[in-house]
Amino acid sequence: MSDQNSVIVPPAKNVQGTVRLPGDKSISHRYAMLAGLARGKTVLENFSTGADCASTLGCMQGLGCKVTKTETTVEIEGLGLELHPPQASLDCGNSGSTIRMLAGILAGQSFSCEMQGDESLSRRPMGRVIRPLSLMGAKFSSAEGERPPLRITGANGTLHAIEYKTPVASAQVKSSILFAGLLAEGITSVEEPVRTRDHGELALRAFGAEVQQEKNRASIRGRQPLHALRATIPGDISSAAFFMCAAALFPESSLVLENVGLNPTRSALLDVLAALGARVHVLDLQEANSELRGSLKVEAGRLKGTTISGGQSAALIDELPVLAAIAPYTTEGIEIRDAGELRVKESDRIATVAQSLRAMGANVEEYPDGLRVPGNQRLHGAKVDSHGDHRIAMAFSVAALRAEGETEILGADAARISFPEFFRMLSAITES
Ligand code: S3P
Repeated sequence: MSDQNSVIVPPAKNVQGTVRLPGDKSISHRYAMLAGLARGKTVLENFSTGADCASTLGCMQGLGCKVTKTETTVEIEGLGLELHPPQASLDCGNSGSTIRMLAGILAGQSFSCEMQGDESLSRRPMGRVIRPLSLMGAKFSSAEGERPPLRITGANGTLHAIEYKTPVASAQVKSSILFAGLLAEGITSVEEPVRTRDHGELALRAFGAEVQQEKNRASIRGRQPLHALRATIPGDISSAAFFMCAAALFPESSLVLENVGLNPTRSALLDVLAALGARVHVLDLQEANSELRGSLKVEAGRLKGTTISGGQSAALIDELPVLAAIAPYTTEGIEIRDAGELRVKESDRIATVAQSLRAMGANVEEYPDGLRVPGNQRLHGAKVDSHGDHRIAMAFSVAALRAEGETEILGADAARISFPEFFRMLSAITES
């Protein structure tokens, strides 16, 4: 390590071992929020260790819920559907999931409060939740361009159901509307252009609500009481993705990943890695609270190339940076299209991926909605700036494993947002 916020990643000779991933970020956020709306004490084991989910816990505390955390076990005393007005602005940190999904819950409360976040979050679009939640009766004010900070005035008692077609494929938006729907009068339904992760629907059911799912549409009847839950959260497949891609790069590799969440709306990476030529085995499969989990074994093959587009891009949205980062090491390259959403993540991920690949000597073509990274390229070690984006820091640490010379990841501590253990676990599975 050369300074506190940069990490040197040397080239590796192989990747092998067994890892167990911290809890899934998407599920942790949703369980923590719904626990606050439930009656009784919810106990969540293997809760995400990332700073994003800590932001959600902080907000739930701010809204009057008693939260206790012991290592990775979180206990939340729910207040029922009515939360308490916070004393101060709710700090959502770097977390788009926190601000957007919590906005749905605040839309149905009887008070007005403010939500804000860091510099990156303050640049992210909130119109996608402001529009539907305003149609339901909540009132918003925001910074210019519908960006945080958001002031939201809840419409408790008068929040009404809507039937809404979301123009963007976003699970955060879908969950936000369904959470508001839980607090509204009538039946709220959301239809999305392509199917996104369904953790919100499954979480609502786990806490006792009835939710209908049909193709790209989910519906919920309002004012259903939630009961507390005891659950162990499966490992985060989007964190596992970095190690799976790392294993795919080395001919002698063999990596076992235990207790990984395998919800079918999240596990498209398995198909893509198999299509590229890696060998991916599901060793066991279990289900709890309608969420699948299992152990995976990944071994390299000869990596060809692929095109990712349409609904597949939405399904792989968090895995696209690392797939682009390993693309130069495939024989035919990887093209990513229909992924314009990458431009409004924690960084403009199309620009930051292209810039990082170029810093390492790769050719890459950038499109408004994606990238094309040709195959058969040799990369060299370089200084790669994470731009404060956790997935960029981790994706290029994986690219660095096959580069010539050392790579310095600047702003490496961004990994703490979703996966604070990343660098320690990466060095445990790599042989240099
Ligand atoms: C998430 C959905 C995705 C994803 C984010 C987590 C979720 O965002 O990028 O990391 O938990 O619903 P969008 O809903 O904005 O696509």
